[in-house]
Parts: sequence; C-alpha cells; structure tokens
Amino acid sequence: MALEAAPQADRVCRLAQLLEARLQRAGRLGRYTLAEVAQHCTPHDGWIVVDSRVYDITPHVVQHPGWTSGCGTSQLLAILRTLGTDCSEEVRAVHSTRALLQLQPFLIGVLVVEGEGQDGGGSSSSSEAAACQGDSD
Ligand code: HEM
Repeated sequence: MALEAAPQADRVCRLAQLLEARLQRAGRLGRYTLAEVAQHCTPHDGWIVVDSRVYDITPHVVQHPGWTSGCGTSQLLAILRTLGTDCSEEVRAVHSTRALLQLQPFLIGVLVVEGEGQDGGGSSSSSEAAACQGDSD
C-alpha cells in the first residue's frame, strides 16, 4: 500500500516498518526483551518500547528543554517515568502524528519475547509488525 494513501496513524506505522526493514537489512536492528529494555531507564541511557519497537531516546531526553526551562518540566517528568518501559499507550495518547514521526530516527530494535532469538540472533520473525494495528496486508 502506498504511504500517502493510508490514514495518518497507519502512515506512521508504515514509516516505522520501512525504517525497520532498512535497518534490518543493514544488520543494525537489535532484538531486545522487555527485561533488557528495563535496564536502560536513566536519562543518560533511556530506552522505551512503543508498538513492539525499541527506541533509544537518550538524545531527546538529554536535550529536552524541560531541564532548563520551566515550561517543559512536566513533559520531561512524563518522559522520565517511561524510560525502560513499554509506554505505547501513553506515547500514542499524547503525541501528534508529526511527533510520532520524530520518534522514528531513535529506532534501535524490535521487541522479542523472553526466550526468542535476541540481539544478533539470526532467526527470522519477531513480534515487530504485530505492532501495527489495522494493517491490512
Ligand atoms: C524521541 C522521543 C520523543 C519525541 C521526538 C517527542 C516529541 C514530542 C513533540 C514534538 C511534542 C509536541 C506535541 C506534538 O507535536 O504532539 C511532544 C509533546 C509531549 N510529549 Fe513527547 N516526544 C518523545 C517522547 C516522549 C515520551 C516517551 C513521553 C512520555 C509519555 C512523552 C510525553 C510528551 C508529553 C506529555 C507531551 C505534551 C503533550 C501536550 O502538550 O498535550 N514524549 N513530544
């Protein structure tokens, strides 16, 4: 399906899938369990899971204006609470499509369930695309 033809939320998901496929081909996409993600829960090493994809949002956190400007503080606090967790619902609830697109450059891997092939493991599919709700192909 063409990227332009899809509704906005689907387009974000499509973009994530395209990026994911590209990183996978380049061998740069990791496979992580929730337990591994949970170890990256500090501002200087902060990962989150959104829709079965793992994002290292450390650069966003350390550069966030909330550290220095009062007006971004509550947003920063909301972000800090989510580090190391699957925060799909919160992230989808508070962000515009534009903001969700801004998340994509931080993609580092896909979520796998405990026991499935982890980072570097060669085996094929993971829970990745299950993430996209409403996908029709
Ligand atoms: C790299 C990661 C992230 C990026 C690039 C990002 C980007 C943005 C942007 C551009 C906005 C402005 C509003 C919009 O356009 O929707 C925003 C607002 C916000 N973000 Fe994020 N965000 C990120 C991660 C997170 C996380 C993990 C949380 C935790 C729940 C979060 C919570 C919020 C909140 C509470 C707002 C304010 C919403 C409002 O004013 O209604 N963000 N974010």
